[in-house]
Amino acid sequence: MASLDIGVNMAEISLSVEGRGGESLRNHYNQAMRKDKLVEWIKEMMHHSFVLGNSVESYITTMEYIEELVREHREWTDSSRALRRKTSRLKTLVPTVDVFHTELHLKDAFTKYNNKYAITSRKHVPPTFNEIRHVLNLSQLLAIGDDLKFISFDGDQTLYSDGGNFEEKSGLSYQIIELIKAGVIICVITAANYFHDGPKYEVRLQGLLRRFIKAGLSEEEINRFYIVGGECNWLLQAHKRENDEGKLVARIEGVEHEVWQADEYDAPKPSKWPQEEIDRVLDIAEASFNNSRQEMRLRARILRKPTSVGIIPGGAKMIQEVPQGHGNEKLKSEALDEVVLRAIDELNNMEHSVSFPYCAFNGGRDAWVDIGSKGVAVEALQAYFAIEKKSCVHIGDQFLKTGNDISARATCNTVWIESPKETFKILDHVLGISLGLDKMERAATEAKLDDDEQSPRGSPRNTPAGRMNVYTGEFEPVK
Ligand code: IMP
Ligand code: MG
Repeated sequence: MASLDIGVNMAEISLSVEGRGGESLRNHYNQAMRKDKLVEWIKEMMHHSFVLGNSVESYITTMEYIEELVREHREWTDSSRALRRKTSRLKTLVPTVDVFHTELHLKDAFTKYNNKYAITSRKHVPPTFNEIRHVLNLSQLLAIGDDLKFISFDGDQTLYSDGGNFEEKSGLSYQIIELIKAGVIICVITAANYFHDGPKYEVRLQGLLRRFIKAGLSEEEINRFYIVGGECNWLLQAHKRENDEGKLVARIEGVEHEVWQADEYDAPKPSKWPQEEIDRVLDIAEASFNNSRQEMRLRARILRKPTSVGIIPGGAKMIQEVPQGHGNEKLKSEALDEVVLRAIDELNNMEHSVSFPYCAFNGGRDAWVDIGSKGVAVEALQAYFAIEKKSCVHIGDQFLKTGNDISARATCNTVWIESPKETFKILDHVLGISLGLDKMERAATEAKLDDDEQSPRGSPRNTPAGRMNVYTGEFEPVK
């Protein structure tokens, strides 16, 4: 779906407590953090149709009305500032809404969705948040149509499960191969940061890379696959190479900063951001993570890299260090949200502002403050590939306030999924809508996945060299 922003009203719920010195200490329970106001508002609008007899007509009229509001909002955001009316109707109704890079085909999407899932036939359960998210996603893909030129994917929880790797038998691989063959540029934009170290990304994407070779993709086609690591800090590209045994393999290799961040491109250049400002952000984040670790008794480790700092489960050895604590295997999501919001708060109050964006997010099992953002990555690549915003889409799972995909909304269309399974559904729509492949053709391509020799089904994370630690990129010997 296109750009919708999530505002946080820090003062939504607050408890007033008298501090030791008599000063007022307030804790802010940040409810809006877990909400998307546009989706919530649409849900409310649909609820009216549900209560008032559930007629399909009523839902469709509502969808047409919202479609019209989006169109009007786009005219407002597109017009020059001098011409701008004070606000759009949509902005009045949903103040957090930002910019849409295309129209949304909500009526058609709703009709298609309802034809399949019969949501208007339900008598007890009105359309839910997730269903509206699905309809918005579909309306975005219908609006892009055959204008699609670039798809970026988040890694963890979008292409593979959190901390996992791309399985060779994943249906996603045949879909990505079809897109590449059709000329679409594919880029995994991930926070995972292994610098320009291609083999580390190869571990995470092994299954897909093997499929590129089995599908007989040419060098030119394989070259259309990119990775951005560390949010926006490292660009890498896939190549077709011969390995030591003379076998063809797909390899991931770094692209020099000077190439994709050349002066001629009117876009952000992360490699030129001042080091002292980067250090300032990471120092504050690291100090904040340390405090959180202590105060919340987290059995966690803090990891510092050149453009990021993370707090990760500390493993069994932390049990001794923090006997009355938690999180050595998995950090609680509540604790991770608190860690992130504290870091955001402290960074917001930084004495001297910095000249680049940064992001703080809850990664599901860990929390990070990263220099840069996925929005920066998309913007830099749009300039490098000379592709307009309306022809790009970013697919990810982290679109709430404490997520790291949300920043892409400012620079391209977005699709919000919750799991690799949902990504598969979305790509099936993309193959139909943007490439015009019919159901039979899509099924036939999928069937090809199973006709080769039996491939190892286990996690490709287990390489002969041992298991790779997804946080550090280090290989750990097999015990
Ligand atoms: P994404 O969902 O593909 O953006 O990947 C996010 C995950 O990458 C995090 O939750 C971490 O587990 C992992 N990761 C590894 N290194 C880094 C880093 O330097 N910054 C942020 N995340 C990292
Ligand atoms: Mg993710």
